[in-house]
Amino acid sequence: MVPRKVGTAWEVAAPAKLNLYLEVLGQRTDGFHELETLMVPVRIYDQLRWTPESRSRSHCSLSIDLQVLSGPADNLLPLDPADNLVLRAAHLLATRAGIPPWGHFHLTKRIPLQAGLGGGSSDAAATLLLANECWQTRLSRAELAELATELGSDVPYFLNAGAAVCRGRGELIESLAGLPRLHVVVVKPTFGLSTPEVFRELAESSAPTEIRRKTSSEQLARLLAALRAGSISTACGWMTNRLEAAASRLAPEILRIKAALAQEGCWGQFMTGSGSTVVGIARSATQARRTARLLSAQNLGTVLAAASGW
Ligand code: C5P
Repeated sequence: MVPRKVGTAWEVAAPAKLNLYLEVLGQRTDGFHELETLMVPVRIYDQLRWTPESRSRSHCSLSIDLQVLSGPADNLLPLDPADNLVLRAAHLLATRAGIPPWGHFHLTKRIPLQAGLGGGSSDAAATLLLANECWQTRLSRAELAELATELGSDVPYFLNAGAAVCRGRGELIESLAGLPRLHVVVVKPTFGLSTPEVFRELAESSAPTEIRRKTSSEQLARLLAALRAGSISTACGWMTNRLEAAASRLAPEILRIKAALAQEGCWGQFMTGSGSTVVGIARSATQARRTARLLSAQNLGTVLAAASGW
């Protein structure tokens, strides 16, 4: 994510992410779960813009414009700017830098909410990067990463937002290169899922953590090898999400969407993050568009054809 100056304003595009693989390795003493996950950016963007106009140099504000990319408008939840990660991120950075936060942020929200697509986390990372530029606070990448971790488990990933394996709570990031572009169909049902609720629903694994860690790293290595070899159909066999069974117990509709994507000939279908979005890996951009068109007619929610990457 690279903010750019437009006149006196600054802008940045904040992408969504997909978890092509997500394993839960265990529960930690801080209440979070130890994860191993492969994340890639996907070309669905929120847009964040900062302008210097402000009532005073010691006040900052946020407005939000919700745009529906496809599907029913009931996918729009009311969004309270006061309760948004953008303002929290801006205040956190200002406090760390020892300056008053100022100016006006405008967020154009296109990434579906409560979807497992990381929209809120991406907005928060975008705010840190944007504010660091427009306020000339010059915090280092390491300092921004520390603030990002405070804001949420997925926020550090979005500071770079390339393909990466994320571990720990999500904040230990190993960047990856050389993965092929994937054509995907993204289906966000009309309902969202709460991340804490999905984690609470997760069944305890009986396997010791060490065994889970070893099995997971082997499965992930196979997935990455297949992707790097360009064998996407083989890679799909290794794409799984440990949270999917828990989320499907809360929302069986997820299974119906997976079946619909399989029916249309997708190579793989799985839930991303803690849901509720289901992703189908298509054979081509044309098949992704065709599948999205067909599924749009089935009232499943927001259906988009997109591609991984920037
Ligand atoms: O960090 P974030 O605010 O995204 O986490 C939301 C909730 O998701 C946490 O309060 C926790 O219940 C759950 N979570 C978890 N382990 C993680 C990430 C999130 O248990 N690694």
